[in-house]
Amino acid sequence: MDTLEAIKTKIEVRQFSDKSVPRDVKSEVLEAARMTGSSSNTQHWRFLLLQKKDAVQRLSADSTSGGWVAGANFAVIILTNPKVNGHAIDAGRAVQDMQLAAWNRGVGTGIFTGVKEEKLRNDFGIPSEMEISAVVGFGYPQKKVSGKKKKRVPLSELAFVDKFGNKFSEQSLS
Ligand SMILES: Cc1cc2nc3c(=O)[nH]c(=O)nc-3n(C[C@H](O)[C@H](O)[C@H](O)COP(=O)(O)O)c2cc1C
Repeated sequence: MDTLEAIKTKIEVRQFSDKSVPRDVKSEVLEAARMTGSSSNTQHWRFLLLQKKDAVQRLSADSTSGGWVAGANFAVIILTNPKVNGHAIDAGRAVQDMQLAAWNRGVGTGIFTGVKEEKLRNDFGIPSEMEISAVVGFGYPQKKVSGKKKKRVPLSELAFVDKFGNKFSEQSLS
């Protein structure tokens, strides 16, 4: 899939079918995370893959804003080193790359950040020095999804040219 097309059509998926995601897709997702650039190339992150049904259920129970992950085929917990400057940006970039790699193969994804931290750490042996930055659930979408549903503010409100406040328009492009 063309990169811009992938970005434009990818939406958050929170309802998944029972169909299993093949190993090669999971492998591509983790490879996308590995290949993402991090602050000073520190690669401080760790990616915890959960693919057993009971583990994904436990993950759901340990969440405060991602209960829907119970229906995912697998999930990845993104852990970062909070001592690294920009670690949250690093997490976000790895998440997006994983999401796009999955989307490229027709697999939907949803991110969540709300967790019952102590429970999650205990359940999955997460070291205290690592921050739980995000969790992503993966699976084939239950319903056909369309990028047309995306709700986004127009660029004329988001982007400025030369000076803050000078609204962007297509005519501003040189
Ligand atoms: C940093 C961050 C945290 C998020 N946390 C949650 C969350 O806890 N639970 C959830 O269901 N979605 C979460 N989302 C997903 C957003 O709701 C989603 O990106 C936004 O609504 C746009 O969705 P769309 O691309 O499908 O239009 C989070 C997204 C980001 C970037």
